[in-house]
Amino acid sequence: MDAFGIDIGGSGIKGAPVDLEKGCFAAERLRIPTPEASTPDAVARVCCELLDNFRVDPSVPVGVAFPAPIHPGRPIGYMANLDKSWIGVDITAKLSEACHRPVRVVNDADAAGLAEARYGAARGSKGLVIAVTLGTGIGTALVMDGKLIPNSELGHIAMGKNGEDAEKLAADSARQREDLSWKKWGKRLTKYLRLLEFYLSPEAFVIGGGVSKKHEKYFPYIEVDTPVYPAKLLNDAGIVGAASFAAERW
Ligand code: BGC
Repeated sequence: MDAFGIDIGGSGIKGAPVDLEKGCFAAERLRIPTPEASTPDAVARVCCELLDNFRVDPSVPVGVAFPAPIHPGRPIGYMANLDKSWIGVDITAKLSEACHRPVRVVNDADAAGLAEARYGAARGSKGLVIAVTLGTGIGTALVMDGKLIPNSELGHIAMGKNGEDAEKLAADSARQREDLSWKKWGKRLTKYLRLLEFYLSPEAFVIGGGVSKKHEKYFPYIEVDTPVYPAKLLNDAGIVGAASFAAERW
């Protein structure tokens, strides 16, 4: 096994061994629902369960994609969609201790952006590419000439009339919660991507997250000047990117 990736999300925690040469799963992934109280202890237990299930040898690099800004060696300072008790926890230390091995942690959208840059829709791209993941929240990854600029958090830019976060209005969870048509949601995504386009002038957008597999339904309603591509690794990008991140030299 080259490396193992874990993607911690608001509804599921998924893990799979990853083939780093091809940038894909080396075996079918396992998904365990995120514990209702998604506390550090509860989430760490699920990570251990995933590693045990695949009998991951302690010598195998393990990468974890996590939905918050990550600064290795520093505690989590901000948490939008999991239990707030993560704030103040050094997640790398916590998971490494719980899983009895060194674990590397990366922001989930950054993991997806890395995977798309190394193996997917942004491979070989020049200039700035913004990967946007649409799920419970909105995650963003800035990839410049193939290199990641970490922790961008552009899902939280103000978009609503009263300054509401973009993710409250345009994440896939907003589409489901408000039962929006693909057209209505596509229009909200247009508004969001237009803001990113205005502020950052990227060369391209890559749209990922679980809903990227249904991109034909809403891509026709996205009207921006920048080229928009669906993620190639679809929802696997978090796991593949985390594994690839963990296997880099320390
Ligand atoms: C978090 C980001 C994360 C994104 C997608 C946001 O609410 O602040 O860190 O990448 O959700 O999970």
